[in-house]
Amino acid sequence: MQGNRGGRFITKVVSLGIVWALVIYTALQFRSIKLDVPMPHLNSRYLLQKRLDTLTRHDSTTETIDLEPSVDKSPSLTEDNLIQDIQNRVPNLPIAYWNKNKNKPMGLNNTCARFPSIFDIEFNNNYWQTLHTSNGTFHLYGAYLDKRKNNKLGPTVRILGMIDRIEPTIVTHCQFWFDGKKDPVITKSFEYKYIWYKKWGNYKQGIFQPYLTACVIPQAYKNKVPQSISLVEKPCDNSTNNLRVIFSEPAAKKDFAVCVKGLDFLHEDLSVRLVEWIELLNLLGADKIFLYQLQVHPNISKILNHYEKQGKVEVTPITLAGVLPNAPALQHYFLSKKTNHKRQNELIPYNDCFYKHMYEYKYIALLDIDEVIMPLEGTTWKELMDKILPKAMKIKNEERASYNVRNVYFLDDLLHDHGWFKEIPRYMHMMQHVYRTKNFTKPGQYVKCFHNTEKVLTLHNHFPLSCLGNGCTSYPIETTDAQLQHYRADCVKTLKKTCEEFRKTSVMDTTIWKFKEPLVSRVSSTLKSLGFFSYAITNDSNSIR
Ligand SMILES: *[C@@H]1O[C@H](CO)[C@@H](O)[C@H](O)[C@H]1NC(C)=O
Ligand SMILES: *[C@@H]1O[C@H](CO)[C@@H](O)[C@H](O)[C@H]1NC(C)=O
Ligand SMILES: *[C@@H]1O[C@H](CO)[C@@H](O)[C@H](O)[C@H]1NC(C)=O
Ligand SMILES: *[C@@H]1O[C@H](CO)[C@@H](O)[C@H](O)[C@H]1NC(C)=O
Ligand SMILES: *[C@@H]1O[C@H](CO)[C@@H](O)[C@H](O)[C@H]1NC(C)=O
Ligand SMILES: *[C@@H]1O[C@H](CO)[C@@H](O)[C@H](O)[C@H]1NC(C)=O
Repeated sequence: MQGNRGGRFITKVVSLGIVWALVIYTALQFRSIKLDVPMPHLNSRYLLQKRLDTLTRHDSTTETIDLEPSVDKSPSLTEDNLIQDIQNRVPNLPIAYWNKNKNKPMGLNNTCARFPSIFDIEFNNNYWQTLHTSNGTFHLYGAYLDKRKNNKLGPTVRILGMIDRIEPTIVTHCQFWFDGKKDPVITKSFEYKYIWYKKWGNYKQGIFQPYLTACVIPQAYKNKVPQSISLVEKPCDNSTNNLRVIFSEPAAKKDFAVCVKGLDFLHEDLSVRLVEWIELLNLLGADKIFLYQLQVHPNISKILNHYEKQGKVEVTPITLAGVLPNAPALQHYFLSKKTNHKRQNELIPYNDCFYKHMYEYKYIALLDIDEVIMPLEGTTWKELMDKILPKAMKIKNEERASYNVRNVYFLDDLLHDHGWFKEIPRYMHMMQHVYRTKNFTKPGQYVKCFHNTEKVLTLHNHFPLSCLGNGCTSYPIETTDAQLQHYRADCVKTLKKTCEEFRKTSVMDTTIWKFKEPLVSRVSSTLKSLGFFSYAITNDSNSIR
């Protein structure tokens, strides 16, 4: 009974389906024939209207038929171009070296320390490579050759990454890969340098912590530059990571670069402030600003693309390692609630930036986009250093690991009691906000530094955490020479109480106005060319994006 009923039901459905298909088919046949005569069984008024519609819309319809949408017609990439594109996007991958050697058997022998192919690597969140050991997981971000003369270990490859252990005890080995050598040079890793203080919190097993691992190059190879490095537990292990060893040493160092931690401004459109900040730093003598990017507002991207084309900034996308969130809005929410995770993760871009550029610049400053190191006399950082270096040398005749600048707040609401300055565009936040708290924050608190690239080993936001040679010496730049102008709506949370006191006494400080002419003109013309004034007709090709 059951089966029979089911069978009849299916027959019904199938025949209905066939009838429906016939109806559709017939309708389609009709559609493909131009209907010039009104069909008697259709409402002729309706049909007439239809035809008129077609007539009136006729022009635009045929136009789109003939139009060709503008799509990217670049020729498809050759394999070499593709490899280059990968290299640019994943700078820590030794893809060129691998590509050159991929068909050669490389390793100690058939069963020991095989050269990891790009396809053997265990990636994590795009830019990290993983090592699982019997006691802890490593997510590795970058490897850099440190052959600075203050490095008493001698040429060393330093590997930056995160380990889910505090005080790791696991013994690991470094496999160095050299050009033209089929087997790796293997040594025990020398140390895991913790880039954090335990008193700052998050000091727990299982949470990924920032470390700089040292792999000292054996004596016999110390004059060679390794192409890549793998970190393994046992010497013979086939590695699941292979990092390009970053090393580029120009003939001479330039003076100043700035590093900025991962930008996390998905919803906050700081584009206009960013223009003022980049232009001001450029005027002060920052050769280049290296910014890392988590998530930013499209308008911020517009600004960054513009300055990247001009060679004034370089943007590196970055992610959080391990199981931390990387989905756009969620990541921001996470970072805003989990301050210690945020702070620990910031140390990766800071130290990566330092190690990538330590041979290119004498000084590297870590700044946020609301901070400016402002010399009180003169207009450049170079003049400032020329002035304070002799002062520092007089106290002690040696270069310091860092030169720190005292922090002072330029709070948003200090301005509004005083109104706007007419001759300065209102959108120029720093130029308008020339009232600051009278007192600086305490010496050594919330400072920012010029870091000496010959001396720093690991960096934190405010100070070096460890240094080469004789310790982390720092020269406090006097407030009569320079100040760290910090533009905020409010003081940092930890200073809430002092802040109330601070607010009661504000002073006018127009030091920034010495840049008025070039700054106003550069900022306004940049904004104009990028289409920020929709009423202004733009001339700049950059505005077409
Ligand atoms: C490969 O090298 C390792 C380490 O030197 C050695 O222990 C092992 O016996 C070698 N295996 C072969 C097959 O030669
Ligand atoms: C490394 O890989 C080779 C080839 O796949 C394999 O024979 C060897 O056992 C592996 N060595 C180790 C230590 O796992
Ligand atoms: C694993 O490493 C931790 C340190 O990070 C150490 O305290 C612990 O004793 C180690 N466990 C084993 C089994 O070695
Ligand atoms: C500001 O500095 C003066 C002089 O050093 C000091 O007496 C005063 O207590 C400070 N005010 C605050 C709020 O720290
Ligand atoms: C900035 O973003 C807003 C909101 O998405 C948009 O309307 C505006 O056109 C953008 N400005 C520029 C210059 O692209
Ligand atoms: C475009 O640029 C040219 C040359 O810089 C200038 O003479 C002209 O006035 C500009 N046009 C507009 C509409 O801004």
